[in-house]
Amino acid sequence: MRGLSDRVRALKPSATVAVNAKAMALRRQGVDLIAMTAGEPDFDTPAFVKEAAIRALAAGKTKYAPPAGIPELREAISAKFKRENGLDIPPEATVVTVGGKQALFNLFQAILNPGDEVIVIGPYWVSYPEMVRFAEGVPVEVRTGPESGFIPDPAEIEHRITARTKAIVVNSPGNPTGAVYPKEVLVAIAELANKYDLYIVSDEIYEHLIYEGEHFSPGLVAPERTITVNGAAKAFAMTGWRIGYAGGPREVIQGIIDVSSQSTTSPDTIAQWAMVEALNNVEEAQKFIQMAREAYRARREIIVEGLNALGLPTPRVSGAFYVLSDVSRIHPDEGQAALRLLEEARVAVVPGTDFAAPRHVRFSYATGEAQIQEALRRIAAIL
Ligand SMILES: Cc1ncc(COP(=O)(O)O)c(C=O)c1O
Repeated sequence: MRGLSDRVRALKPSATVAVNAKAMALRRQGVDLIAMTAGEPDFDTPAFVKEAAIRALAAGKTKYAPPAGIPELREAISAKFKRENGLDIPPEATVVTVGGKQALFNLFQAILNPGDEVIVIGPYWVSYPEMVRFAEGVPVEVRTGPESGFIPDPAEIEHRITARTKAIVVNSPGNPTGAVYPKEVLVAIAELANKYDLYIVSDEIYEHLIYEGEHFSPGLVAPERTITVNGAAKAFAMTGWRIGYAGGPREVIQGIIDVSSQSTTSPDTIAQWAMVEALNNVEEAQKFIQMAREAYRARREIIVEGLNALGLPTPRVSGAFYVLSDVSRIHPDEGQAALRLLEEARVAVVPGTDFAAPRHVRFSYATGEAQIQEALRRIAAIL
């Protein structure tokens, strides 16, 4: 009999993707809207990366790639892990994926049996619990709040570990909170993985977007248990190229590769050659990353100060390009608050509901300063 599977029926489509699509549709209809929904840099992909793609295309590098990724990129990833994170991950223990998203999706398929538990630290990126459920796992939430700047207490994480716990997901700098975990917190979480023999899934996709403090990879503390996930999208403004990667324990990486081999075969070959250049041309890459980071830093000041001045409490977090703002003043229900912001202020944001952030909405400041200023004026007007 026809009909969708229970698995797909239970799947909740990404709230951020949905709300962003709605904002874009309104814009196409001519609505003058400021979209602060997408986790997408407003910069263009740097020219040196685009040129590498053009060269690959001209050279006919247009065929299937191995499911683990082209060897040149796996080498570049291994070198990047060493250079930037201090991690010793040989090329054979890396995999290239269709965005960081596919690395995570395949990873949960690779490590979870039905009923296995995965600790996720809320407010979390909407996809973690859904990916875990899709792999028949059970997400177990540890909550953090604005009073701690959304930094978790490792003792609370330890408290949630059971005989069924398989992994802890760490995302620092984090989406949607913008929180950067202090090194001691990351060390303590990684030590829990060692103590209880768990995996750490470390999503480091925002590692370069830190405004105070430094990035730290938990893989340095739990190398046999950490899968480090990263990608091209946020660092190099390459969201549409769909290149992500992971490195870690070989059997897990092989699991990710096997899932790819039966689903996507490999990521786009031309985009992989562009990514080789993005990682290996360290000088150009650093120039671009620094330029973007300084722009985001200035925008963060404007949005954090502006929202707090409007009576919408917003912690001054240190990373990524998001802030979570308490919008109870606009409406006690965050979904209704986001609707008011959209319909009355013409400012599109993502309600915190699916991030496990009640009373909050997420503002992405990966948009120009003038747009941010205008959004603040519009919100002031409805208040
Ligand atoms: C926390 C986090 N991880 C992973 C991703 C996946 O990024 P991509 O698949 O574009 O590499 C995103 C994208 O928004 C994200 O916010």
